[in-house]
Amino acid sequence: MEKTTRRSVLALAAAAPAALAGAAGAQTAPPRPGNGRAALVTGSSRGIGAATAKRLAQDGFAVTVNYLTNRDLAAQVVRDIEAAGGRAIFRQGDVADPEAVKALFDANEEAFGGVDVVISNAAIMNTAPFAQFTDEAFDRMIATNIKGSFNVLREAARRTRDGGRIVTLASTSIKAMRATHGGYAATKAAQQIYAGCLSKELSGRRISVNALAPGPTNTDLLDVPPPLRAQAAQMTPYGRIGEPEDIANAIAALCSGDGEWINGQVVFANGGFL
Ligand SMILES: NC(=O)c1ccc[n+]([C@@H]2O[C@H](COP(=O)([O-])OP(=O)(O)OC[C@H]3O[C@@H](n4cnc5c(N)ncnc54)[C@H](OP(=O)(O)O)[C@@H]3O)[C@@H](O)[C@H]2O)c1
Repeated sequence: MEKTTRRSVLALAAAAPAALAGAAGAQTAPPRPGNGRAALVTGSSRGIGAATAKRLAQDGFAVTVNYLTNRDLAAQVVRDIEAAGGRAIFRQGDVADPEAVKALFDANEEAFGGVDVVISNAAIMNTAPFAQFTDEAFDRMIATNIKGSFNVLREAARRTRDGGRIVTLASTSIKAMRATHGGYAATKAAQQIYAGCLSKELSGRRISVNALAPGPTNTDLLDVPPPLRAQAAQMTPYGRIGEPEDIANAIAALCSGDGEWINGQVVFANGGFL
């Protein structure tokens, strides 16, 4: 009897690690925030938009990738997402054109049934002193950054499903007040107003709307010579400028369940640059 008991105890002890491992293995991973949901990211063929599309796909969202001219890059973003097990489509469309924006949302709806997360990211940056700014450079920036983002947010207001998330890209330049950045920073300050006003219009639908304001980030838009990049890196406590993935992570946090209570705000994601 004693022998049997000892044997049983020993057998139990031997089996315990395997049993525990089995129990741990049986635990299901927590559901990803995007599972069964869809996200649309404007200007996602490269830079912050591409990183955001990939990150949201990792989080389980089916993603609509948008581009203006770089079709091959947009196609590559979709291939990368699919290679990692995600779902994505890509569509050309100029955000400055309201009909193109509607068509972009239509394509997303056709592919994925609706939209839960909209990231208004597409923008251009033209900089010059006031005295030398051309009408053409200023007007194109207004058309893309102010009217374009308005077109996207208007469609998002009409179509985002309850419980969704809307993020529009502002910039730390709205605080920095740098010479030559007046026109660009003004278009980015508009995103703060858009987020605040739209968050209230969507009352009762649990849709958060925020402006995410990156600092200097390593993309084509940051078209400055290496010494200026180094200077920007030195101004950041981490000693580097941002990578697109740093910004994508911050956007993904806003789009997660934990982001719900952040609403109508400008969120600065700049590593402490300013
Ligand atoms: N990088 C920074 O340091 C920084 C700092 C603060 C804020 N931001 C903001 O972050 C956002 C992304 O910037 P980024 O640095 O990633 O820019 P980027 O590298 O220049 O990429 C811009 C993206 O927008 C697309 N795009 C441009 N005009 C468009 C239009 N009219 N319609 C549709 N798509 C258009 C481009 O498509 P194509 O490839 O087809 O041209 C590209 O995918 C912008 O809102 C920017 O203002 C950036």
